[in-house]
Amino acid sequence: MTALPTTPDFDVWPVDHQVVSLEVSAETLTVTWSDGQTSAHHALLLRENSPDPATTHPKAREMAIGPDEIAADLCITGAERCGSGAISVTFSDGLTTDYHPGWLRGTAWFGEDAPTPLVLWTSAEQPEPPTFDGPGALEDAAVFLEWLEALRVYGVARLRGLPQQDGLLERIVTQIGPVRESNFGRQYVLEIKDDPDSQAYTSGALLQHIDLPTRELPFGLQFLYTRENTTPGGEGRYVDAYRVAEDMRIEEPEHFQSLVTDIWEYNNRARTSDYRGRGPVIETDAAGAITGVRYNTFLRAPLRAPLEVQARAYKAYRAFSVRAQSPAYQMKFRYEAGDLLAFDNRRALHGRAGYDAKGGARFIEGIYADRDDLHSRIRTLKRQFRAGSAS
Ligand SMILES: [Fe+2]
Repeated sequence: MTALPTTPDFDVWPVDHQVVSLEVSAETLTVTWSDGQTSAHHALLLRENSPDPATTHPKAREMAIGPDEIAADLCITGAERCGSGAISVTFSDGLTTDYHPGWLRGTAWFGEDAPTPLVLWTSAEQPEPPTFDGPGALEDAAVFLEWLEALRVYGVARLRGLPQQDGLLERIVTQIGPVRESNFGRQYVLEIKDDPDSQAYTSGALLQHIDLPTRELPFGLQFLYTRENTTPGGEGRYVDAYRVAEDMRIEEPEHFQSLVTDIWEYNNRARTSDYRGRGPVIETDAAGAITGVRYNTFLRAPLRAPLEVQARAYKAYRAFSVRAQSPAYQMKFRYEAGDLLAFDNRRALHGRAGYDAKGGARFIEGIYADRDDLHSRIRTLKRQFRAGSAS
């Protein structure tokens, strides 16, 4: 059997379904598959995704032609199934090209995809972060992928039992994606500073918050690697802000409406920087699904809005805060030496109990990255596994 054609990407497309029949009209290729499903592919979509080297750059595999280089009245003039399983399509501009059946199936429209399932949690439902063996995750890509998937689904996930190594945190994070540097540096250490530019650098308690609400787009991921912790207190207190928001959508709809529409501004308080980020507390997409939160009680700038908006926005912020500080929503746990806690900075609010700095040593390193780096790495790891199972 001859090899299947390349695809206009670097993905690995399994061929789980066979083509049973093809039907052609001027604008449309309709495919009937072995599981009884049918898919419809427009002539223009097929034409601009042709893997031939004039249409798809053979090395970059990006589109090499623009929409105006394809005739507006382009038609499909024929299609047939090849012995290799590829589908050969001929167009009215004279091009005949072969399509990979796995790509054709995998990119077809079968109705709206189900939303990505996230698991929202209260403290009773998720008393501790999903936890994985640290050394195991470093040795076995399957365990590493499980950790990343848990981070995506729960918004918080932990590796335990990691060795104490300088640079280990950055080495692990860069296996996911690039480090995002901030005004706190490429990597920061949660330690007590004489002249702190954040309350994080004190031993005091911290209310639940996201980091960097002062930025246009707060970084999506945060990683905390505990090198040492023998101080009494200082437990982490994490809250699934999506759970809080969804409960408020139902139980406190007026406050929810304010939280998704009223714009708050946040400013960092520092002598050498003046970042200002704006947005609603709860960010939603066009369908109303929650996509992120921008919540931090101690970095809010004075609210500049009409008086009636000030009144409702303060009530709503307070209501959200009451829930964020409620034990019903708070996952509480101790940072142990060798823990690497990863969390979604725009979903999992973090806070901590105060600690007795004189009672022991506490050394926690932190790094930021971004959400779509996580999603990209999950996809490419899965791609590698698909390629491995295909060989
Ligand atoms: Fe923080």
